[in-house]
Amino acid sequence: MILVEDILKKYNAIGINIPKFMIKWMRSNHAGETGAVWIYKGASFIFWNKKISKMSKEHILTETNHLIVMENLLTSNEKSKLLFLWRVMGFVLGFLSAMFGYKFFCITVDAVETFVEKHYNEQIEYLLNNNLNYKLAMVLKKCCDEEIEHQQDARSKVLKKDESKFTNFWKKIVGSGSNMAVNVSKLV
Ligand SMILES: [Fe+2]
Ligand SMILES: [Fe+2]
Repeated sequence: MILVEDILKKYNAIGINIPKFMIKWMRSNHAGETGAVWIYKGASFIFWNKKISKMSKEHILTETNHLIVMENLLTSNEKSKLLFLWRVMGFVLGFLSAMFGYKFFCITVDAVETFVEKHYNEQIEYLLNNNLNYKLAMVLKKCCDEEIEHQQDARSKVLKKDESKFTNFWKKIVGSGSNMAVNVSKLV
């Protein structure tokens, strides 16, 4: 069983006050981690593909931790009102990309996690450069480091020959789709 307290301790996410200007960022983090959990849920529907199942099982553990951390750093009325949409979008992205096979799924995970890394880094740098809330920056840093592990894990499975104009185009779509989702979830 996962104990929320243990996870919060592990991420050192206890006793943190979220400054007002960070709420919209945190809302997008929470929405994003919701989407991430559902990407791997969607992918694990392709259960006959053992490699996809294995990666999904491993990554979903960390994403669940991230989601619990974000969930506890926001009150319910600070969360995105569109969580249902983020779940569906995550699920569809995971399910569809996994349907095209392991390599295509890995290319998609690489694109998503590369976006997430940039998204977290923006916040971490802002907090650190302005000497604001070091503790929160370190929580985000720990999450970000784990996103990089996911990204590297997925990227290491893809060979040059698996890439094409289409996969590059797809990565761009995934990146700009994620960017759009972040912008919307910052607002609502
Ligand atoms: Fe995550
Ligand atoms: Fe991730």
